[in-house]
Amino acid sequence: MRKRILAGITPSGDGTLHIGNYLGAVRQFIELTKSHDCFLMVADLHALTTIQERETLSNNTETLILNELALLGDLSHIVFFRQSDVPMHTELTWILNNITPMGLLKRAHAYKDKLQKDMTLDDINLGLFNYPILMASDILLYKPDLVPVGRDQKQHVEITRDIAERFNKTFKAKVFPLPDPFIPEEVAVIMGTDGKRKMSKSLGNIISIFESEETIRKQVMSTYTDPTRIHKTDPGHIEGNMVFRYLDFFGEKGKVDQLKKLYIEGNISDIEVKNYLYDSLMKIFAPARKRYQDLRSNPQKVREILETGAVKARGVAGATMMEVRDAVGLTNSYSFFSY
Ligand code: TYM
Repeated sequence: MRKRILAGITPSGDGTLHIGNYLGAVRQFIELTKSHDCFLMVADLHALTTIQERETLSNNTETLILNELALLGDLSHIVFFRQSDVPMHTELTWILNNITPMGLLKRAHAYKDKLQKDMTLDDINLGLFNYPILMASDILLYKPDLVPVGRDQKQHVEITRDIAERFNKTFKAKVFPLPDPFIPEEVAVIMGTDGKRKMSKSLGNIISIFESEETIRKQVMSTYTDPTRIHKTDPGHIEGNMVFRYLDFFGEKGKVDQLKKLYIEGNISDIEVKNYLYDSLMKIFAPARKRYQDLRSNPQKVREILETGAVKARGVAGATMMEVRDAVGLTNSYSFFSY
């Protein structure tokens, strides 16, 4: 039997994807589709913890859906769906709430980080505190073997394992297998164009995938290189140089090695190397950028993809929920419920 993977992306920021999301999550996911059955979810319920404006949530979700579909291209072996189209996610969350100690959630990074940023308990909504349980539900409903994520989400997968074990033990039923995170070391954290912090929309240190050519060129040109290098003839450093870091993923190896040599010798300018990065990005993402435009002008097709995905996802999630209901005793001799 083919193994199964599940991944999710939240439509936060403005819903657009950057190369950090691509390298940290989507690229692995595409690679794994060759050998695994895959579930990929647009986690719009997660976005509600921070986005509480109707238009914004709905626009972001649409944008993310188009971005993801454009990157994926071939959808065979992928069940692509929107989290809020599958009500079992919120249902399981309630059940898991009851076996999850608050202490476990208090140790979650996302919550601890918020508390440190001058926020009091009154500024943090319960959804944000509870977020790891919703994510555990996202994962456990599909019983995946692997969950491909960036390192920032590793703790959430560990919490998921903990919750799954507690459930199985509390109800003396082997409902949930324990999923493993899948985090290749070289892409565990993609640093931003500032070279200092994780690439993240909210920090403005990203290189976009679907923005205009002009925007992407600007992002590439502002990427951190080697601050000790003033003139083209100064010997340059590759370590910590984000342009070369990105080129290791997006450039052609032979050409990148040659550029590195010239850079170290002081025989090439920053601009020339950045131009090569820009051209490489445009080349690699050209098919996805084209698909993005096609999808934008074909809403009916997108709708059909989501409908098909939701039906398949509900089938799998519903079967798991029947086991869950049975295990916890949400059933009796007069029960008639089925999904
Ligand atoms: P999100 O939307 O913040 O990010 C989506 C995926 O991209 C990865 N990622 C990165 N990886 C490496 N370097 C970076 N700079 C970088 N930025 C983002 C994230 O680790 C993530 O894998 N809670 C999740 C979404 C989610 C989910 C799930 C994931 C909801 N349910 C179930 C897996 C399984 C989140 O907010 O990711």
